[in-house]
Amino acid sequence: MTTYLITGTNRGIGLEYCQQLQQKGETVIAVCRQPSEELKNLGVQIESGIDVASDESVAELAKRLRGTTIDVLINNAGIIETNSLENLEFESLERQFQVNAVALLRVTKALLPMIPRGGKIIISSNDSSPR
Ligand SMILES: NC(=O)c1ccc[n+]([C@@H]2O[C@H](COP(=O)([O-])OP(=O)(O)OC[C@H]3O[C@@H](n4cnc5c(N)ncnc54)[C@H](OP(=O)(O)O)[C@@H]3O)[C@@H](O)[C@H]2O)c1
Repeated sequence: MTTYLITGTNRGIGLEYCQQLQQKGETVIAVCRQPSEELKNLGVQIESGIDVASDESVAELAKRLRGTTIDVLINNAGIIETNSLENLEFESLERQFQVNAVALLRVTKALLPMIPRGGKIIISSNDSSPR
């Protein structure tokens, strides 16, 4: 059995990852800010109250999981805000960069001691370039 840790699991693609992996009999650690009813109903291990954009929050996650082995880390949490070159919102770009690029490195660094040799780190984010 493989242990997967997934971020951004209360809805969307992250919730779907949890559902499908659990159905396959894998061990799922679902990380989120606030668990949804759908996530709670899956019966997987939930680590809630975690904002991937916060150093303190991610340090708390690592503390909670000390001693756990994570075979596959899926960095899924992310935000998509549409910007055009004509109406660029720099705060939006900065926010997306922080969540979609920096936060996954924060999570990966914090959890690295729990990922064994041969473990996998998956990045499922989006590019935030203006369209
Ligand atoms: N759907 C697409 O077509 C598409 C295409 C390309 C890439 N992606 C990427 O795939 C990933 C999932 O997409 P999705 O469609 O499932 O998105 P979604 O429905 O918007 O879900 C995003 C998830 O990320 C979480 N999240 C956002 N910011 C967070 C933060 N600071 N800390 C903790 N969790 C945070 C959200 O939690 P809250 O509910 O607490 O906000 C939510 O669980 C994202 O990274 C997205 O950029 C999606």
